[in-house]
Amino acid sequence: MNGQKVGFSNKLGFILAAAGSAVGLGNIWRFPYLAAQYGGGIFLLVYLILAVTFGFALMITEVAIGRKTGMSAIKAFSVLNKKFSFIGVLAAMVPIIIFPYYCVIGGWVIKYGTVFITGQGAAAASDGYFGEFISTTISPLLFTAIFIFLTSVVVLLGVQKGIEKISKILMPILLLLTIIIAVYGLTLDGAIDGLIYYVKPNFSAFSLKTLVAAMGQLFYSMSLAMGIMITYGSYMQRKDNLESSVRSIEVFDTVIAFLAGLMIIPAVFAFSGGDESKLDQGPGLMFVTLPKVFNSMAGGNIIGVIFFVLVFFAALTSSISLMETIVSIIMDKFKIKRSIVCLIVMLLSMLIAIPSSLGNGVWSNILILGKDFLSFFDFLSNNIMMPIVAFLTCIFVGFIIKTKTIEDEVELSGKFKAKKMYRIMIRYICPVFLLIIFISSVVGYV
Ligand code: PHE
Repeated sequence: MNGQKVGFSNKLGFILAAAGSAVGLGNIWRFPYLAAQYGGGIFLLVYLILAVTFGFALMITEVAIGRKTGMSAIKAFSVLNKKFSFIGVLAAMVPIIIFPYYCVIGGWVIKYGTVFITGQGAAAASDGYFGEFISTTISPLLFTAIFIFLTSVVVLLGVQKGIEKISKILMPILLLLTIIIAVYGLTLDGAIDGLIYYVKPNFSAFSLKTLVAAMGQLFYSMSLAMGIMITYGSYMQRKDNLESSVRSIEVFDTVIAFLAGLMIIPAVFAFSGGDESKLDQGPGLMFVTLPKVFNSMAGGNIIGVIFFVLVFFAALTSSISLMETIVSIIMDKFKIKRSIVCLIVMLLSMLIAIPSSLGNGVWSNILILGKDFLSFFDFLSNNIMMPIVAFLTCIFVGFIIKTKTIEDEVELSGKFKAKKMYRIMIRYICPVFLLIIFISSVVGYV
């Protein structure tokens, strides 16, 4: 079924492209502050255990569905069982919701990159700079449009010449830059206390919240439940080992998340004299606190440039995967040429991104469920739709088409070592975990 598509040229191409999707803003700003907030080492431990069980089972399922059917989400589910194509439709809605607002944040990253490159790091460190920037009308929209345009160029170039090529260049550089900043950060006075705070397990901080927060993060971080891994799986070759590829993606994603913590937590500690509250600021951590931290260090402007360049790479490869998923779904469904679909998706996304950007400024008085547009789209996709899609996928695979369908696909390229664990995870443990995540986030527990 896979024959007619141009896919990734080899296993490394697939791994780096999928890792490019997984490694994104979630790894860089969200993982470090969650780890700091939920007990340091204990959070890391819980996260690791969940990654190799829960995350692994979900990711292998999606990649195998993609590779088996050779199709993106909507078609893939309908090929497996016509009655359940609605799961594919729900999955397809997630990247459509996320892509525009993700690009708004991508635009902020480009803005900060240009500020540091032009040597104005000190201005970015001044109080109120971020709030003022995102509340203006034209400038953030312009940066969003640039970010969408750059993403579109890569997607237009296609799977091998665009996505695979750029991932092979950007991902190793991203890893290297992250290591450079982490090492530099650790040499600052007071950084070691931050390191200890980050990695030492604080068992008393462990609670159900730790578990729920780690699950939610894992899920988002591995780009699950939105058709991305199905699409990328459809471009994977049958001879490439599916199980070991999924393991490699998880390792890459987790290593970058861990290094991001090393890069941020000790530096913030050194800057704030050990004030933990500075870490707990969500997006503000990256755009408000870090510029202040950089401004206080020797050579901070250069570090700022390196930092925002690496965040840009991380965000770009993730947004590429979002756009590719949307484009491939439309191409599969309507049989339209890639170039035309790219153009349409690019223009529409620029339009749909407008409310998410203006919601921080002139439209800040328009609230949905008490949230501005960007936060609302984020909540809708991450807290509501994604757990539902993942839950339905587990039930579909576990009880309708049966896990054997997936196992056979995995075994086309070698022995499925974790088969027993996989079965239990998909049929029983994952659905229960997903229900817990869903209920907790709906009642506002985490
Ligand atoms: N996995 C990305 C991250 O960790 C988030 C993301 C999800 C990006 C979906 C793109 C698509 O930041």
